[in-house]
Amino acid sequence: MTDTLVGASVWEQEIYDHLTSHVEAERGILESYQEAARRSESAAFQYLVALIVEDEIRHHKRFSELAQALRSDAELSADPPVVPRLDWYKADQKLIRELTDALIARERTDAKELERLRRELKDVKDTTMWVLLVRLMETDTAKHLEILNFIRHHINL
Ligand SMILES: [Fe+2]
Ligand SMILES: [Fe+2]
Repeated sequence: MTDTLVGASVWEQEIYDHLTSHVEAERGILESYQEAARRSESAAFQYLVALIVEDEIRHHKRFSELAQALRSDAELSADPPVVPRLDWYKADQKLIRELTDALIARERTDAKELERLRRELKDVKDTTMWVLLVRLMETDTAKHLEILNFIRHHINL
């Protein structure tokens, strides 16, 4: 899939090619998981693979968005990009900082509650997948904090 961007620099074209080839690779991974789930005849295996498939679908979408964002920047499109530019300077930064700080506090509380729940479930950690599901929510919470910390570090206050 080669697609030449109009007016792009060499760097932009290279990154664009990299992103679009990754979209293809992600599609292949997704199909492998779906095929494995079909063949397994295990509800547990299918349930866990479905969790991965959800992520892979999201990765596929994210790579497409990155490619589109790069294309609209390279081609100087007047349309708003699918991945917004960092527009804090136009916003009420004090408000964004307050909102972000409140959300960070909630995520930290959530992280502590998940950790407590995980300890409570330790007796069934080898007989159920429940501890795994709680651990996955803990990694999601870490991801949410990473997003919020990104905002926090890019607000000029
Ligand atoms: Fe992926
Ligand atoms: Fe969260």
